[in-house]
Amino acid sequence: MWKFWLSALISVGHASQTVLRPEPLANFTTFRTTNSPHSIRIRQQDESICAAGSAQYTGWLDIGPRHLFFWYFESQNDPVADPLTLWMNGGPGSSSMMGLFQENGPCLINEHGNGTVHNAWGWSRNSSLLFVDQPADVGWSYIDEGYGVARDSQEAAVDMHRFLQIFVSEIFPHKRFSDFHLSGESYAGKYIPYLGAEIVTRNQLYPSEPQINLKSCLLPTCRDVWKSTTLAPEALTSQSARLHIQSAIKESSVLYEDESKKGGRNRFDTPCYIDELCYKEAAYIEQYLNSPTVREALSPPEGAKKYGLESSAVVDAFATTPEAMTSSSDHIIFLLANGVHFLAYQGNLDLACNTAGNLRWANSLAWKGQTEFTSKPLLPWTSNVAGHNKTVGTAKEVRVQLDGQAEASRFAFVTVDGAGHLLPQDRGDVAFDILTRWIAGHSFA
Ligand SMILES: *[C@@H]1O[C@H](CO)[C@@H](O)[C@H](O)[C@H]1NC(C)=O
Ligand SMILES: *[C@@H]1O[C@H](CO)[C@@H](O)[C@H](O)[C@H]1NC(C)=O
Ligand SMILES: *[C@@H]1O[C@H](CO)[C@@H](O)[C@H](O)[C@H]1NC(C)=O
Ligand SMILES: *[C@@H]1O[C@H](CO)[C@@H](O)[C@H](O)[C@H]1NC(C)=O
Repeated sequence: MWKFWLSALISVGHASQTVLRPEPLANFTTFRTTNSPHSIRIRQQDESICAAGSAQYTGWLDIGPRHLFFWYFESQNDPVADPLTLWMNGGPGSSSMMGLFQENGPCLINEHGNGTVHNAWGWSRNSSLLFVDQPADVGWSYIDEGYGVARDSQEAAVDMHRFLQIFVSEIFPHKRFSDFHLSGESYAGKYIPYLGAEIVTRNQLYPSEPQINLKSCLLPTCRDVWKSTTLAPEALTSQSARLHIQSAIKESSVLYEDESKKGGRNRFDTPCYIDELCYKEAAYIEQYLNSPTVREALSPPEGAKKYGLESSAVVDAFATTPEAMTSSSDHIIFLLANGVHFLAYQGNLDLACNTAGNLRWANSLAWKGQTEFTSKPLLPWTSNVAGHNKTVGTAKEVRVQLDGQAEASRFAFVTVDGAGHLLPQDRGDVAFDILTRWIAGHSFA
């Protein structure tokens, strides 16, 4: 595959105006261009740091002072014909390596934190899968000194859109016309609608630029008691009002966490092992990614800081804007109106993002399919669990033909029993079924 994309890249290089010249650098292949502020450093990895079962590549995309880290896995099934799926963790400020090594990546952190095991339910079984640490400063991504980090999902989306354009047109041109799906969890419920809207808008504004063939968004809905408070933007214009609300939110969630810790569970319905992130795997992932073996394999630039699962700079920057308390429903309606399918899914045990509240939100979405969607009941859906068809949760969905669209827009709401906040970790088999059904266009009936 490496040779394949290299030759493909060179042929694309001839056709485009910006000719990227590969040059070897400490085992990276680096593509530089003189007339635009980006370059790409990429290297192939073998199975030793991640037991993936398909070709994998890591590297950084440099957009001026911002450097976005990615880890890309070709589909284990058909790398050319299968779609491309992007996964982002939320936070804001959380590293997507958490999704990779703890949830739906092809390799998971082992029980000692010193290696990986192959994940039978990794999402790269039937889709090429891309993890990006974003916005810059998160995880292995970094930002040059003196430059500020993104303060909201719109700023983050601008860089991610550019990243994706370069990724599919210049690095992996055989993915240029692939169906593209956006997925993630928690705060990525904000990143996704913003990035989706940025993609659709730029595709329309600049038809001669590389298009991102955005097919769908998979949104883990997270609208619990405190985050669902959608306040009027006017109420959030003053910094003091925002800080007041944010500290109230923080307090109530801390209180809640203290309460629920007494029962040994946190609000994400998982046992608490370490502070803050509450998953023992989180500590293992940090330990693993900072180990000399992995560091050498990834080769961050000299002087790069230690890997951390959370960027406090991004947390702080996002706290200065009202975004966390505003709704992104308008973006979702915009996406549906532009033929982008939308799937909202969640674990029924997830107290931080409860089902009743999420269903109310899905029903209230004011788009052309609202009446039909609202009038439908949630019905049990079955999945093949260890060889048997079993009811695994509830679902409802509609497909509605919208003006000017070639294909009906699909909107689905799917819940999964016995799963908490990190659905792919709790029910990897069912999460994998959700993904494959969804990208293949099959229903949840
Ligand atoms: C580069 O690759 C060679 C052979 O694959 C290996 O021996 C060497 O350690 C690598 N260097 C770095 C800096 O990773
Ligand atoms: C997923 O991949 C397997 C082989 O790994 C293949 O048999 C199956 O048909 C694929 N499913 C879809 C929906 O493409
Ligand atoms: C990982 O740790 C375990 C337990 O200490 C040890 O048995 C194993 O050899 C280690 N593996 C590697 C690759 O270092
Ligand atoms: C399980 O469900 C699938 C798809 O819904 C169906 O084709 C199959 O016949 C079912 N198998 C059994 C044993 O019920």
